[in-house]
Amino acid sequence: MTASTLVTGGAGYIGAHTVRALRAQDRPVVVLDTLELSTADAVIDAELVVGDIADEALVESICRDHEFDTIVHFAAYKNVGESMAQPSKYYRNNVDGTVRLLDAATRAGVERLVFSSSCSVYGTPEIVPVDESQRIAPESVYAETKATVDRVLHWYGVVHGLRSVSLRYFNAAGASFDSRIGEDWTYALNLIPVAIRALLTDGTPLQVYGTDYPTPDGTCVRDYIHVDDLAAAHIAAIDYLAAGGDTTAVNVGTGVGSSVKEVLDGIAALAGRPVPHELAPRRAGDPSTTYADTAKARDVLGWEAKYGIDEILDTAFRWHQRQHSS
Ligand code: WQD
Repeated sequence: MTASTLVTGGAGYIGAHTVRALRAQDRPVVVLDTLELSTADAVIDAELVVGDIADEALVESICRDHEFDTIVHFAAYKNVGESMAQPSKYYRNNVDGTVRLLDAATRAGVERLVFSSSCSVYGTPEIVPVDESQRIAPESVYAETKATVDRVLHWYGVVHGLRSVSLRYFNAAGASFDSRIGEDWTYALNLIPVAIRALLTDGTPLQVYGTDYPTPDGTCVRDYIHVDDLAAAHIAAIDYLAAGGDTTAVNVGTGVGSSVKEVLDGIAALAGRPVPHELAPRRAGDPSTTYADTAKARDVLGWEAKYGIDEILDTAFRWHQRQHSS
């Protein structure tokens, strides 16, 4: 029998898509989530334990009960701006909470972990596409917490024999193709949900942060990666570790950049009308252009993105339309 996988933060945006992909392959899954920023319905048919990664007694007991072979660790706060206003909230949950999770899990005999890391650990990249050998230079507390956990995982490998894959995501976006799960836009600050919200509600217009960047159309270029591709990358990482793979960090992107203007044009084409927007000054800390070097993901994990910006915008638009009309 396949041993089960523990997915922390499995009710969250990327977590829920990964849980669904695991369940679609009949892999047993237990979700651990506080439901602070998510709802139970997102986990669909997986077992849900409502609780905190920092609760060592709880984590140790569920790890002993289920004999998980792997933990996929998503649970974390992810708002870059908030992390600069409340650093302790981010250090406590993302770093200290993770250390507690690791301590409890390794005590219970768990040997493998897939971690939700971020391309933001590279800060403003010196060279694009960004490969995994680039300098780690976080530019926010949020990014610092991800870089710190990457280092913690290295040392837990050395000391405890825990093997792990840090998946450094580029810009996660899109929704499931059947519009069943997606990202709630209530707290969203990211380009795609904010643009669709501006279009579907009579709320505030989108602010385009900077039109004078050294890019073909003057707006920033990012590597948007479909959430179902991210889910598949987690399964590839689980299988890599199960096959004996060593601790490593892997970029997860498409290798293709899209500008803010291209994203807005794509959404306007789907909606049949323009996204209400205003041209605004640059946002502090935004790199002009970043996209992934995808070679390591392909070589080490045997994974590459199946979808591009068209599928991302199409699934996101249909998901938000459905949420908004229901
Ligand atoms: C995308 C582009 C903005 C909003 C974030 C995190 C990063 C990583 C990936 C996870 C930028 C522009 C945005 C708006 C705009 N996540 N924009 N108006 O900043 O590239 O990266 O996701 O670890 O840590 O910071 O994503 O969606 O905020 O911005 O013009 O209202 O859209 O300037 O060029 P970002 P984003």
